[in-house]
Parts: sequence; structure tokens; C-alpha cells
Amino acid sequence: MHVIYPGSFDPLTFGHLSIIERASTAFQKITVFVALNPNKKGWLSVDERLHILRESLKSYKNVKIDTGEGLLVEHVKRLGGDIILKGVRSVYDLQQEQMMAEANYEIGSEIETLVFLSRFQFQGISSSLVRQIFALGGEIDAFVPKGVSQFLKSKK
Ligand code: PNS
Repeated sequence: MHVIYPGSFDPLTFGHLSIIERASTAFQKITVFVALNPNKKGWLSVDERLHILRESLKSYKNVKIDTGEGLLVEHVKRLGGDIILKGVRSVYDLQQEQMMAEANYEIGSEIETLVFLSRFQFQGISSSLVRQIFALGGEIDAFVPKGVSQFLKSKK
């Protein structure tokens, strides 16, 4: 089973990493897909997000990284993926994911979405929270892997 795990990863957090780690033991092959929205300027550049992912995920031998614009389902097909994987932290996330899963099923010729429920300790972590804390000079080590915080601090 080849699983596609899409997101913005702006930046990668412990929450994402936990989902990737769990998926890497549950499935044969995972592609972490950095979905790009040309209308939305990211916080980190695509190259920076990819760099962070490559560095943070290099020990996971069955995890690959890819990126692209446009419809996710087209990339799932291009990559030969079997299923989309999402992480869900809350009922709010579930509502969003339910809508996206339905849309992707319709437009993607019945591509299914699987959700992993977040582990309890990661339910409060989000990339937007990390961006906000970092911008205000707060400590982000509890939310992102060491390599990510080192990279962000080196940019300052
Ligand atoms: O990390 P995020 O920002 O919550 O991830 C959302 C993402 C990128 C997975 C979602 O916006 C997405 O799938 N975008 C790709 C564009 C697309 O296919 N949209 C239509 C179906 S939702």
C-alpha cells in the first residue's frame, strides 16, 4: 500500500512527524506531499519546507517526499498512490477532512481518504501556532523537531 500524506508542512511539527512515523510502520510506502497553493504565500519557501522534511525524515527508509501545485488527486495518480492519509486532532479537523475526503473521492475517481487520530500529546500542536510563537520570540522546541527549530533560529 502506497500512502500519500499531504499538507502544507509550514513548518513540519511533532504532530506531523508522529503521523509519518506511525504510517511508516503501518504501510509499505509513504509519500509526504507538500501541496502548493499559488494564491497563498507560504511562511517558509517550498525549498525550505522540502529541506526540513528531507533532513527530518532521512531515517525513514520507506518515506519519500514530493511536491506540486493543483489538485491533490492528480498527484496521487501521478505518484501511483493508493490512498490519501490525513491526521485529525479534533472534531473541527474531522469536519474539514470529511469535506475534503468527499471532494477527493468524487473528483479523484474514488480515491479514498484514511484518517489517523492524533496522539493525545500532539492534539494542541499546529504549524500556525508554531509560526505565531516563533514570530513573537517564544520557544518552539516543544512543538517541532530539533532540526526544525535549529533551522528556523539560523534564519533569524
Ligand atoms: O497542512 P494543510 O494546509 O492543512 O493541508 C491542506 C491540504 C494542502 C492537504 C489541502 O488544502 C489540499 O489537499 N490541497 C490541494 C488542492 C486540492 O486538491 N484541493 C481540492 C480538494 S480538498
